[in-house]
Amino acid sequence: MSYPPTILVFDSGLGGLTVLREIVRARPDAHYVYVADDAFFPYGHHGEDQIIARVVPLIGELIASHAPDLVVIACNTASTLVMSHLRHAYQVPFVGTVPAIKPACASSKTKRVSVLGTKGTVKREYTKRLIADFAQGCEVTLVGSAELASLAESALSGNDVSDEDIAAELAPCFVGKDASDAHRTDTVVLACTHYPLLLDRLVQLAPWPVDWIDPAPAIARRVSDLLGPANGPTDQAGAEMIFTSKRPHTLSQALMPFFGGRVPA
Ligand code: DGL
Repeated sequence: MSYPPTILVFDSGLGGLTVLREIVRARPDAHYVYVADDAFFPYGHHGEDQIIARVVPLIGELIASHAPDLVVIACNTASTLVMSHLRHAYQVPFVGTVPAIKPACASSKTKRVSVLGTKGTVKREYTKRLIADFAQGCEVTLVGSAELASLAESALSGNDVSDEDIAAELAPCFVGKDASDAHRTDTVVLACTHYPLLLDRLVQLAPWPVDWIDPAPAIARRVSDLLGPANGPTDQAGAEMIFTSKRPHTLSQALMPFFGGRVPA
């Protein structure tokens, strides 16, 4: 492992920034390369074979050009498909992002949990296996959203996104009647890294209060464990942001909080 370690964080777009934010908090000593595969966004609209064929060689190119010490696939739509392919093809340690069904079901009191992800993620065998293994007696509702990732991306880029558009994507997560229903949904898994970008709006538009489960802090702990103890100075300046479309980035100010205040080059 080099010092400071280089961590490459990858997503289809800006959603992985919600994972990056937690990792930077846990490991301010590291150097960060954030890659948004915006040329292929949204992944939720692509077939499984297309995603594997896109992501596996692309990660190989990124490893060759940035020599990361660790790669985080900060995308559920990709992680639920590509992790074994990546581990087979490359030596670098990988951390993926998959729906946090186990902790959600462990903490639900009403035993009714919804998993909100892209249409791809909720269809995956991997997600179904997580439910079979970890539902712990909960009724789990899978909600595939076609638009929420794009809405989150648009909101972060400073555009107006209407309450109606967000509420329509959210509505199927809420199963049950009124407060007298002891079995209505009390927990929603944010199974797409874009969704925490809209968390304030989700809380405000929810028909009743629920726990929103975001796996980013757990991912950051895993990354930190794999890196081992920080044993050098903080690399405060070290951040790069790459868009595969090669568009110049005009978002630096809005993105700075996700990089712990660093301005990504
Ligand atoms: N951020 C991605 C995820 O966690 C998906 C968004 C997309 O490209 O459809 O699933």
